[in-house]
Amino acid sequence: VNKEKAFMVNLLPYPVFIGNDGWDKIRRLIIPYLRDERVFLLDDQNTEKNCLPILFHFIPELYDCEIYTLADGEQSKEIRTLGEVWKWLITHGARQGSLLINLGGGVISDIGGFAAATAKRGMHYVNIPTTLIGQADAAIGGKTGINLEGAKNQAGVFYNPEAVFIIPEFLLTLPERHFKSGFAEIIKSAALSGHHSWKLLKDTADYSVEHMIPLIYEAVRYKCLVVKKDPYDRASRRALNFGHTAGHALESLFNRQQMPGMLHGEAVAAGMAIELFLSGMVAGLEAIERDDIISVIRKHFHLPFVDDKYHEMLLNLMNLDKKNDSDRINFTLLEAIGKPVINCRVNSRDIRSSLMEYNRMTGHDQD
Ligand code: GLY
Repeated sequence: VNKEKAFMVNLLPYPVFIGNDGWDKIRRLIIPYLRDERVFLLDDQNTEKNCLPILFHFIPELYDCEIYTLADGEQSKEIRTLGEVWKWLITHGARQGSLLINLGGGVISDIGGFAAATAKRGMHYVNIPTTLIGQADAAIGGKTGINLEGAKNQAGVFYNPEAVFIIPEFLLTLPERHFKSGFAEIIKSAALSGHHSWKLLKDTADYSVEHMIPLIYEAVRYKCLVVKKDPYDRASRRALNFGHTAGHALESLFNRQQMPGMLHGEAVAAGMAIELFLSGMVAGLEAIERDDIISVIRKHFHLPFVDDKYHEMLLNLMNLDKKNDSDRINFTLLEAIGKPVINCRVNSRDIRSSLMEYNRMTGHDQD
């Protein structure tokens, strides 16, 4: 993969462009809407400040489009905000042929995509993801939605964008902690995808934005392949949930217990470590591969120790996860690098043991 050029992944009903010179592609898609229709842009306070000026610089024609700016963060992904976005679109004359541009991370593409799917029974939209999580994962695949009462993604639809434009340059606008957090999804994708991607990840000399392009490209290609096979998440797409059952539980625990807040990617990194121990126990993952992946995770993330007294609460939180049936908890685990196993129904004894193993490992870091 050449770092300078733009790439297009054409596996889905819409193109995904990757590369810092993707501006021309964006312009070509947007100009007809500007000429014949209306163009709307949804961003958040961060992307308004740091990314919108870059977009205006390259596409000055957008200067006159309608803009709506949400507060940063996950709390915007809720029903009241969705109502505001609908009203904004409708009162400014959105029609089925209008275009909404989502400029931001997963929160913006989720809520903006949902608004686009439902305003006027569906208008056009494009995603311009500005975070590493957005570029490697969230902006692709047509999942849209909002949270309800603290539970993630409880209402939403699958609705495809017209295109996704991944401009790695936007990653330079991220605070370092957020950039690093997104790296968890790159590690996840490489481990799920196979030895070629895994080797590429391990051989990457440094994790600067320019070195990130081939890794993003691999993650995007893998995601597109997975989504193409199972666009509605009925079966094989669930591979992408690896690390997320334990990860979502940790995210909720840390955010509820007045422990230092955890970013999504940080939670997924720790969740993957827990689920790798579990994979060793119940999915046949060999210790050598398990330890290889865990060592890469630990190279990038400080994994928090999770006191034993929270383990029951974590189990309860995992039970709330939408992917579960009653007594056992449903995980996506790894049988080997490149071999995810979906719908692994695991009993609580094995989950407790994997939490203990995780603690034995992270406990050492504390000493
Ligand atoms: N982020 C997981 C999925 O798109 O299925």
